[in-house]
Amino acid sequence: MVAYYGELCTEDYEIDKSIADGKELEFYLSFVTDQDMKVLEPMCGNGRMLLPFLERGIHIEGFDISEDMLDLCRAKGRALHLEPTVFNCRLEEFKSNKKYDLIIIPFGSFSLVTDETAKRSLSNLLNVLNKGGKILLTVMIGQGPFEDVPEWTEADRFDVRGKEVIKSRKMYFDNESKILHSGLRYQLTSNGIVEKEEIMDFPIRYYEEGEFESFLKNNGVYDFVRHEVEDGYGLGSPFQVFECRN
Ligand SMILES: C[S@@+](CC[C@H](N)C(=O)[O-])C[C@H]1O[C@@H](n2cnc3c(N)ncnc32)[C@H](O)[C@@H]1O
Repeated sequence: MVAYYGELCTEDYEIDKSIADGKELEFYLSFVTDQDMKVLEPMCGNGRMLLPFLERGIHIEGFDISEDMLDLCRAKGRALHLEPTVFNCRLEEFKSNKKYDLIIIPFGSFSLVTDETAKRSLSNLLNVLNKGGKILLTVMIGQGPFEDVPEWTEADRFDVRGKEVIKSRKMYFDNESKILHSGLRYQLTSNGIVEKEEIMDFPIRYYEEGEFESFLKNNGVYDFVRHEVEDGYGLGSPFQVFECRN
């Protein structure tokens, strides 16, 4: 079964990426300069970033295409006595009459929309951004080299409700489109028998140095700053964020 961020993948994501904290959270929170600000998190997934915002009384809404991720976000919210406003939508199709002061897409997620889709997605975000508002975008930057993994190769095993899940991956990097085609397979097993299989195929656009800056300018965003967040993902793991201003 082909499932984009399906049940087993969602469980996997939750194991080590349940809630944002530390420097990463601090960085995003630093853009909330007024408690009345309206924040939007497209591709919010399991609420890793959205829930800590909500816990602080910030007006935030999110959307995602994975119902499993959204269900998990809602359930985690309930456990915290919170009611997250999240809905199912594709970034490239997102339209709204509402306007937002801050839009955030953490954790390289904007690389999951590629080329024409990325242009449409950026335009959709600009359409709902208030005057003086900001968009914080993260993408994957780098040129590899990426090792091709042509056949399913076991990457990990973990438990879900007492049953073992075998995670395998395969991947190849297309030098021309700069897309890493990444395949993930999850097999829920019981006594060595595969009870459920989830296959996920997701392309990740890697930008060369300076390329995302050109993408922004070519799509009408001229006022932006690139931040380097030292130790953002933990000691020795920095990340870059493009702060785009309206
Ligand atoms: C790697 S997760 C990151 C989630 C979140 N940004 C975070 O920081 O934890 C990527 C999420 O993007 C969602 N996603 C991928 N493509 C999407 C699209 N075109 N529109 C909306 N959501 C999308 C996936 O379902 C998944 O939940």
